[in-house]
Amino acid sequence: MASVSGVPIWPDAGIRSAWLSQWQLPSLSVGIQIGLFKLLDSNPGLTSAQISESLKVSKRGIDALTAVLGALTFLECRGGAFHNSVETSLYLLEGSQFFWGHMLMGRPGSEASALHRRLHDAIVHDQVDPGAVNEWEAGSLPDPERAAAITRGMHSHSVAPAMALAASPRFKALNVTKLLDVGGGSGCFPIAMAQANPAFKGVVMEIDTVGKCALEFVAEAKVSEQITTIARNMFKDAWPTPAEGFNGVFFSNIFHDWNHAQNTHLARSAFNTLAPGGRILLHETLLNDDSTGPFVAAAFSMHMLVYTRGKQFTFKELQELLTSVGFVDVQVFPTYSFYSIVHARKP
Ligand SMILES: C[S@@+](CC[C@H](N)C(=O)[O-])C[C@H]1O[C@@H](n2cnc3c(N)ncnc32)[C@H](O)[C@@H]1O
Repeated sequence: MASVSGVPIWPDAGIRSAWLSQWQLPSLSVGIQIGLFKLLDSNPGLTSAQISESLKVSKRGIDALTAVLGALTFLECRGGAFHNSVETSLYLLEGSQFFWGHMLMGRPGSEASALHRRLHDAIVHDQVDPGAVNEWEAGSLPDPERAAAITRGMHSHSVAPAMALAASPRFKALNVTKLLDVGGGSGCFPIAMAQANPAFKGVVMEIDTVGKCALEFVAEAKVSEQITTIARNMFKDAWPTPAEGFNGVFFSNIFHDWNHAQNTHLARSAFNTLAPGGRILLHETLLNDDSTGPFVAAAFSMHMLVYTRGKQFTFKELQELLTSVGFVDVQVFPTYSFYSIVHARKP
């Protein structure tokens, strides 16, 4: 028995943690290289803004690094101020007789040094990996094979959380009957919702080549009567209007890809698409209130630092963003394997 009502009988938390553990070692080696532990040794209690100013590196980068090091307990955060832990003072400070750095920094050209370099370049030079994000921003993935490969990857990452969300009583209680899934990838969320509720209708708004892949997933799941796609660049093109009757606008793993101005545009566009009473729903892995964990959220934020313009958020950050464009009644509930839904109503 692999699943109950489509929801896997065992969460993928171990897989997700293993995937994101790729950032553990680079966090230590980059922390040593940029002089973070040395700085906190001579100036304990700096905030991330003060650290970024002292080291002359990106604040977004330091936020991601301090989050991971905090989650791993190599840094302690007290009231927003960072201190080296005892373990860090013993083993990560150059000059200590117990310094581990010569082992952790790896040999030039080793696998470890490739991720180290990416993280270092993101923090020191604000340099994002030139992968999908530039094409996403332009709203175009012209190579259909590449679009299919990215969509398959996202599907395997998201299909279990999608099934769990569709089965969640708290999601069902929101009574979303017509959903716009913005940047919906394979469409796995509305597909799961359609399978759980024959009256449900969903529209996946995607880059054209990705939308074509989504239609294949929709056909395979036999929900073509309930799910359609529209090809749109969510940053440049017109969004559906309230006349189209969406009572939910859904974003899964979308806000974590983009900066504040871009997310404000997305939230405002969702607001304008919904009729009064409709809800925006954000499916994200949330950081705790002081942004120092849990590890999976912190490491996911580091992944976003290197590959996108975004980060993971605290509930409060998303609450502020949603209320800034007019949403009210912002609420949150946990769903599956580190994910939560943050939702809010258009008054
Ligand atoms: C991180 S994936 C999330 C996919 C899906 N929501 C999930 O959680 O599995 C980001 C998605 O946003 C889509 N996307 C990126 N830029 C876009 C744009 N400018 N307009 C429409 N969709 C876009 C991508 O094609 C991709 O499917």
